[in-house]
Amino acid sequence: MFLRLVAALLFCGFASLANAQQAVGWKTGREAAAIERKVDALLGKMTLEEKVGQLHLSGRGEGFDIEQVRNGRMGAVMNFVVPAEIRQVQEAVRQTRLKIPLIIGLDAVHGFSTYFPLPLGQAASWNPQLIEQAAYWTGREASAAGVNWTFAPMVDMSRDPRWGRVLEGAGEDVHLASIVAAARTRGYQRGGVAASVKHFVGYGAGEAGRDYNSTWIPLSQLHDLHLPPFKAAFEAGAMTAMAAFNALNGMPATAHRGMLTDLLRGQWGFRGFVTSDFGSITELRLHGIAKDDAEAARKALLAGIDMDMMGDVFHKHLAGEVKAGRVPMKALDEAVRRVLRVKFHLGLFERPDVDVAAAPALMQTQEARDVARQIAREGVILLKNERETLPIASAVKSVAVIGAMAVPEDERVWTDPAGLGRRVVQPLPDALREQLPADVAVTYEPAFTKNCGTVFKDKDAALRAAAAADLVVAMLGEDCEFMGEGASRTDLGLPGVQQELLEALVATGKPVVLVLATGRPLVLSWADKHVAAIVQTFHGGTEGRAAIADVLAGKVNPSGRVPMSFPRSVGQIPVYYDQLPTGRPQKIRQRYESIYMDEANEALYPFGFGLSYSRFGYANPRVERERVALNAAAEIAVDVTNQGTRDGQEVVQLYVRQPVASRSRPLRQLKGFEKIFLKAGETRTVRFRLEGRALGVHDDAGRYQLDPGMVEVYLGGSSQAQANTRFELTKP
Ligand code: NOJ
Repeated sequence: MFLRLVAALLFCGFASLANAQQAVGWKTGREAAAIERKVDALLGKMTLEEKVGQLHLSGRGEGFDIEQVRNGRMGAVMNFVVPAEIRQVQEAVRQTRLKIPLIIGLDAVHGFSTYFPLPLGQAASWNPQLIEQAAYWTGREASAAGVNWTFAPMVDMSRDPRWGRVLEGAGEDVHLASIVAAARTRGYQRGGVAASVKHFVGYGAGEAGRDYNSTWIPLSQLHDLHLPPFKAAFEAGAMTAMAAFNALNGMPATAHRGMLTDLLRGQWGFRGFVTSDFGSITELRLHGIAKDDAEAARKALLAGIDMDMMGDVFHKHLAGEVKAGRVPMKALDEAVRRVLRVKFHLGLFERPDVDVAAAPALMQTQEARDVARQIAREGVILLKNERETLPIASAVKSVAVIGAMAVPEDERVWTDPAGLGRRVVQPLPDALREQLPADVAVTYEPAFTKNCGTVFKDKDAALRAAAAADLVVAMLGEDCEFMGEGASRTDLGLPGVQQELLEALVATGKPVVLVLATGRPLVLSWADKHVAAIVQTFHGGTEGRAAIADVLAGKVNPSGRVPMSFPRSVGQIPVYYDQLPTGRPQKIRQRYESIYMDEANEALYPFGFGLSYSRFGYANPRVERERVALNAAAEIAVDVTNQGTRDGQEVVQLYVRQPVASRSRPLRQLKGFEKIFLKAGETRTVRFRLEGRALGVHDDAGRYQLDPGMVEVYLGGSSQAQANTRFELTKP
């Protein structure tokens, strides 16, 4: 018996050890120096074709040629998710002359087998520890399947919800986004996959919210808003980066030497490699800066792109460009050096091939699902709750769940780990039945087809179910092709027939709780006026609907906060909280003020906002010292009280403003936040440390500039925080 137990333990140990990849990251000191020597030695042995091969990234599917792996002409692959297939390409490497391992990439964006909320929904939790955990489990599962590189985190800043990819980012604020970027990078790499921070740079600022569109970003804004999340990810150890599709100020990012080489390598000292985006090197022709693929390959490489994703352009043309003397061998060597360096630091040369048999047991483990449940819960934002419609009161004896989105088909936006692990996603009606008392009847009607809610299935049945219930829970939103890459929209209403459905449900006279699963903030002005409660989620993943039920039933007190302002109408876009002052601020809403004739200026739901089943009070905002030198730190404190009758979490937020400085400063800027748990009636003092040197901005030439002067500090539960204090920032 004892021996059997030992054998079982050993077996489990081996099974999980084989695939349970250790944390990856940059090695330091002697180890790093030894790697540089190994890289040089290997480089010295490589032929021109083998060097070019290391820069060639090809993907599973039509056109994939495993012969290119076997003869050392491919350095990286993508979109392989099935361990047995990954094993095949790994084995093909052993037939090559130099046996340089492949780096195996995938868009493991918000999960691999266990799905976490979309990144925007993770940011809505304002809980960096949980966000790191979600990335960690994504990395663990992906690496257990043999993947060793994820095309994430996307850290593009965007203030334009028309852009379908805001769901991959962390919202509109640079401070929150930078913290999230670092947390996700750490998580992925602790889980065993190299992070590829993307898209360098400016991709989120596409004109008119149209994907792949040109961006025009002044240097000051580039440095204050778009670059910091990248910097944060690199400081957290991100080993690779991906260039953007767009042109930045007239130069395609894929050929932007100023960004890729001067800034990234020169100023920031980045030692990893940069891949192009999907086919973006050959797209340089369409951008109008290359007459053919050979020129595109040359321009990209010389600008600082090291690897060609799915373009086949480096593979076809780089050797010729080198032989013709148009690309110096030194430049090629440098790109190969960066790729090999990352492979050595990742430990790929020592790593055993994926253990195919062991992989499934490492998917959707209880621990991963627990994290998924917790982050899904904490990302739920309560936007409206008229007359305490929520949590569902004990007087409610029947609930009609309406909307096909309540019953999941799938929770993935990107990957397809075919055949791995379980995929159990609880439907919302079942989850509600589990959470509500046994005497509450829960019915379900899909109302519309799953085709993004564009067509009704049985509207009348839905209305009958609503009319027969005490409370209606309508789960609506964006699905399928309405969000993500290539899904820019000019109308940010509910897609298809869903608005019509919502209005018909409200017309039944029953209280309606609108539960949203979307990839972006929608325009909710009608719903805000007419429904009883609004619960926002950004597709909560494997545990998403269970988490919604937790909140609706009151098992969990909602604590998500808006990461990206909700516009009142599309015409307000861009709408974001940290605007600059104008000389004509809104005062009494008369002409010649900076206002709209037909709409308010403010967001419908501003950044940082979110209701709770409790109320939180702020008192005694204070600074330790009234004068703080620019090279010192201000100590700020505030007492926060849970004034409600339920325990709950609050996101305590700190905003600053410098009313007089050498350049205009935003009206408010987030500089700190902390998510705290308070029992009903409990008070806690929350302290922040604010570095004087973090209070500067960049000038038109991109130089960082600090100004002495008064700093106003606002503390509260949203960007409209009221409690305030101030201190004087002085020259050292
Ligand atoms: C294009 C996307 O822009 C990028 O983010 C992604 O990693 C690649 N496709 C690969 O799927």
